[in-house]
Amino acid sequence: MIEGMVTFSEQLTQRLIDALGPIGHGNIQEEFIPVVTAATDTRFGDYQTNVAMTLAKTLRTNPRELASQIIENFDVSGLCDTPEIAGPGFINFRITNDILASRIYSLTGDERLGVALENSTKRLLIDFSSPNVAKPMHIGHIRSTIIGDCIARTARFLGHEVIADNHIGDWGTPMGQVLYGWKNHLNENDFTANPISELLRLYQLVKQQSESDPEIAEQCLKETVKLQSGDPENLALWKQFIEITLSGAQEIYKRLDIHFDTTLGESFYDQHLAPLVERLLAEGIAQESDGAICIFSSNDLDPKEDPLLVQRDGEWRPIPCMIRKKDGGFNYATTDIATIDYRVNDQKADEILYVVDDRQSLHFRQLFEVARRRGINTCLRHIAFGKILGDDRKPFKTREGTVPALGNVLDEAVDRARKIVDEKSSELPEDERADIAEKIGVGAVKYAELSQARSSDYIFSWEKMLALQGNTAPYMINAYVRTRSIFRKLEGNLEYPADSLSISEAAERSIAIKLCQYGEILPQILCDHRPNLLASYLYELAQGFHSFYEQCPVLNAEEPARSTRIALCDTTSRVLRHGLNLLGISPPERM
Ligand code: ARG
Repeated sequence: MIEGMVTFSEQLTQRLIDALGPIGHGNIQEEFIPVVTAATDTRFGDYQTNVAMTLAKTLRTNPRELASQIIENFDVSGLCDTPEIAGPGFINFRITNDILASRIYSLTGDERLGVALENSTKRLLIDFSSPNVAKPMHIGHIRSTIIGDCIARTARFLGHEVIADNHIGDWGTPMGQVLYGWKNHLNENDFTANPISELLRLYQLVKQQSESDPEIAEQCLKETVKLQSGDPENLALWKQFIEITLSGAQEIYKRLDIHFDTTLGESFYDQHLAPLVERLLAEGIAQESDGAICIFSSNDLDPKEDPLLVQRDGEWRPIPCMIRKKDGGFNYATTDIATIDYRVNDQKADEILYVVDDRQSLHFRQLFEVARRRGINTCLRHIAFGKILGDDRKPFKTREGTVPALGNVLDEAVDRARKIVDEKSSELPEDERADIAEKIGVGAVKYAELSQARSSDYIFSWEKMLALQGNTAPYMINAYVRTRSIFRKLEGNLEYPADSLSISEAAERSIAIKLCQYGEILPQILCDHRPNLLASYLYELAQGFHSFYEQCPVLNAEEPARSTRIALCDTTSRVLRHGLNLLGISPPERM
């Protein structure tokens, strides 16, 4: 980023701190940082703060009076007009047009688009996607894959070191079930035709059988134990299952443009499980219970906060974390505890994010509690998300009632996008239309995901996600394509002398301010891991651009409006492309 390009909100915050200095005679704590946010109603300003209202309470004074005192001390030079007071004591700021114009000029030459690298960067391990062996990736995996990738891209751009880890489920009971199924029920023809769906069939069949038939469950367990003790036949089969699963997943990752730094499955940690359990026993963290080994509550947390307790019939009862079963097998949790050790000690992660659906909330709360008890202070966070629902508000299913495979969903999205492209742009060559349809189709599925608040369930709707209007990928891509069309007409003639930019129209102003806020939005995405903040920002920018474009002629305008508008179009184009790329979407140049 160009040096000295501190965001407007940071500049306003600093000047507010300076203005507060003489107020309150030392009653304001030194570490107090006033909050400045983008204005909720841009008719009254570009930014606002409620600092006067917050401080009036502490200082026992009238908030509007305090606001006017703050304004008196506030240095506006080279930044904004005299701030205004609104309502009960809000202070509104409007950046001057000159400062806006010169900031836009700086952005035209800034590769980082005004986004600073974070001051303190960390090594961030993101555990996402993580499908299971012998199961194709289904629509449920889409949320983890797409959200995890967006967080990884954003974190990298902000300067963090990211380790993207695909923690595939390749160990434990399900492996024994597939092995048993393979040895007893394999249909060779089906396997040759579609290996992964035959593996899934075997797994589902045997899982069901072993639930009702203890004899079969016993056989499956034997297969698991054989595998885990290194039986060559089972080991070879198991490797084949992994290969088949990963090559299916890889095709999808390629289409989605998703890359992992490591793909360490659960099996990778197997050697560590037995000694880990012994250690936890020796340390008194785990104990024997009914032949199994469990971790119980240490009773030093408020029961409401304690994931190892549950309230039943008005009483707090233990809900332990099991780490070794009666039969000697290890649990999902055991592997996850061992995985934390490896990530902290060997991979040297400063923070670990688990992008996993919210049905596993209790598992992660228990896991983090066990880590706390073991004195691990690495920041661990569960980035949870809800379900994808169909129109009927039930979990999204195919017409046949099965969980849709991700590959089929992408195919259908692209087919539908192709129809739109054929209709709108029949003049484009065949291969270009295919490329555009792939980008719009895949982009629509991703955007539908990332524009939602991740913690809620959302309804999967083809019509909505492919609509040309609204907060959708086609709308965003359309805005981008519009910016590009201007530059095709200009034929690469892009040069603006610094002093020729001049912002005057309201429509120019409103996209100019938005463009300057890109550097304010991106760090926020990592605070609460909410990609939908970026999607909303881009949507507002695209809306602003559409109305700017309708109101303000660009190429036929007189100077200095012409250069200014070209600069605004160029910067909008770059921010849209960059932001969409962080969402994992690559927009076509035409559509
Ligand atoms: N394979 C698991 C599943 O599909 C998700 C794994 C998530 N990561 C973890 N470290 N537990 O449910």
